[in-house]
Amino acid sequence: MAAPLLAMMVGGCDGGGRADANTSALGVATDSSPEVRARQVLAQMTLAEKLTLIHGDGFCWPAGTDGWTAGVPRLGIPPTTYVGAGSGVTDVCLRDKLRPFNPAIPPGPATELPAPIARAASWSKAVANDAGKLLGRETRDKGYNVHIGGDVNLARDPRNGRTFEQFGEDPLLAGTLVVAEQRAVAEEGVINSVKHYVGNEAEAHRNESTSEIDERTLRELYLVPFEMAIRQGRVGTVMCSYNAVNGVAACENRYLLRQVLKGEWGFEGWVMSDWFATYSTVASANNGLDQEQPWGLFFGIPLALALGTGEVPLARVDDMVFRILRTMFASRVVDDPPVQRPIDTARGAGVARQIEEQGAVLLKNAGDHLPLDPAATASIAVIGAYADGADDGRNACPFKDDWCNTKGYAAGGGSSSVHPTVTVTPLAGIRARVPHARVEYASGRDIVEAARLARSSEIAIVFARDTESEGKDRVNLSLDEDADSLIEAVSRANPRTIVVLETGGPVTMPWLDHVPAVLEAWYPGQSAGAAIARLLFGDVSPSGRLPVTFPKSEADLPTAGSVAQWPGVLEQQGGRYRIDYAEGVFMGYRWYDERKIEPLFPFGYGLTYGAKFEYSDLRIESKGPSVMVQFRLRNGGTRTAVEVSQLYLGMPSPSPSVHQPPKWLRGFDRIELAAGEAREVSIELPERAFSYWDVEQKGWAVSPGCYEVMVGSSSRDVALRTGLSRGTLASCP
Ligand code: BGC
Repeated sequence: MAAPLLAMMVGGCDGGGRADANTSALGVATDSSPEVRARQVLAQMTLAEKLTLIHGDGFCWPAGTDGWTAGVPRLGIPPTTYVGAGSGVTDVCLRDKLRPFNPAIPPGPATELPAPIARAASWSKAVANDAGKLLGRETRDKGYNVHIGGDVNLARDPRNGRTFEQFGEDPLLAGTLVVAEQRAVAEEGVINSVKHYVGNEAEAHRNESTSEIDERTLRELYLVPFEMAIRQGRVGTVMCSYNAVNGVAACENRYLLRQVLKGEWGFEGWVMSDWFATYSTVASANNGLDQEQPWGLFFGIPLALALGTGEVPLARVDDMVFRILRTMFASRVVDDPPVQRPIDTARGAGVARQIEEQGAVLLKNAGDHLPLDPAATASIAVIGAYADGADDGRNACPFKDDWCNTKGYAAGGGSSSVHPTVTVTPLAGIRARVPHARVEYASGRDIVEAARLARSSEIAIVFARDTESEGKDRVNLSLDEDADSLIEAVSRANPRTIVVLETGGPVTMPWLDHVPAVLEAWYPGQSAGAAIARLLFGDVSPSGRLPVTFPKSEADLPTAGSVAQWPGVLEQQGGRYRIDYAEGVFMGYRWYDERKIEPLFPFGYGLTYGAKFEYSDLRIESKGPSVMVQFRLRNGGTRTAVEVSQLYLGMPSPSPSVHQPPKWLRGFDRIELAAGEAREVSIELPERAFSYWDVEQKGWAVSPGCYEVMVGSSSRDVALRTGLSRGTLASCP
């Protein structure tokens, strides 16, 4: 590898990709549109150069990235360098270990944000925007130009090992947040992504599974966040998934790639395969895949041969290259390529803390046990789950490496692993917040010792976690190891026990009746301790709401009792795992509502300190094809707090075969109100909110009948409701 190219790949020089003032190499005008520029460059490319752009050239080396694709320096096209992902610029390649061999590789550490599930729990576009800005900026500051985040597969079954990396169980919530996040990534001048398109809701057999999903369910649930992202999120790349959908591999699925994504939604960027998720040459190329990652096993020499035989037309390769070039020109990566520079660690740590403060969910607070009074707290026992940052080997590491095991907070494993910059462990955070107090630590491995410490302290705080990682699923929803027994024992020893959960998704809580307070901190990111201390001591009031239902037990899950639904069954022929999405649209809260199953904590739920939100004056007005729902919200409590007002629609069933769940989330707003303050809230419902997917007509349709409009604080706490006849806006009988 020639030195200039190496440097260019990690942003060490101006990369040859930077154009002169108004013309780039070979006279292409830089003030032309991305389309014109892409066409002009394409016209000058040799076949070999075209083939270069449509496949990866390996991972980790030489750029320290998840993948890279060589560019075409002759024409001013830089290489593309791909890094994930959800929680920060990833370091699965252990860059610090590679740097001695290539000093152009940037350092490993980057800001580790709270996991996407925590950001989803904020229900906040501002949080999504802050996260996206930071992810985009740090990708750029590392000298990389493609950010491969935006995992919007839905939490169909919370045992999915990647639940932490996604945005929960509702398509509107996930879609709204991924749009805000990915737009912000793009605005920082790097290419963004959404993934894994589509039906990748389980990890265990992802390479050999087929997700069997009926069309209505696909359209109304699993495709929605992708559609929103494509239509509104300035998406550069879509990553197709490992699994097949209805028997056809996602990366060679003509219906999904050509008809829906590029046809109906008008996607102009490029489709890249998930890593080693390309399984063919001709079928993949002709059915819509534009780039194989991370190698050219199918899109290298085999594609050149397929061009020779005419099985793949040259026009298709030109389309692949055009899409890649157009996206590169439309982003800033050609004209203003990322240049490596130190990341702003202090700023990153602040953003991580603020996001965690808005995403943590207060699940229980009996007798206003929280917030703790810092002045009146003399002794605290901090217990469990290596809240002191000591290595207990439980963090799910891709490789055994020091930064991975000693973070002091739980984080998900796999390709989204981040090497954090500066960490604040819960123990450190709590000590710093109450320096006058005696704060002692017990790992919890010895339950008797932990209970003894709890007994001799005024307050006990138990940190408990689960372990989630890409590549495998959870066997159940229990906390790791013996945390349930630990919590029982500690709560018996000290009735003032607070449980802080660091989990990537729902867990069961057999001890719930025995503890007064539970805070769900999710995978909290590198400022964990600072944020959690501020939440526990009331410097900030918890304001997150659950983006996913917490069931009482695994037996209540929509997939319970059916191996065909979870984890799937091995088909006799073809050797594929068939995962049957037989629950259809009755997934998440739609299932619990339909079956009248009481969840442990419902979708949309979360408490806050000292607030009492009052809803009144529900009004509905027509606004063109949309409907405007307005209501008055008042904080009748004692302190400033955030409410997440949620608007659900009960949809009429157009026919017995299109049965509708009792409610669908159709809008929401996160509103901060001072004590005593009131505000008029307006939520607009576009036509699409009233639509269902008509399988026969193959399109969206609005059913006649009565729509129930419900507004409230969670899917199970509806404060206002009215009926609405869609055509007339009249109340229903
Ligand atoms: C994951 C993707 C990721 C890719 C590159 C794959 O294993 O499924 O989400 O972007 O690796 O790191």
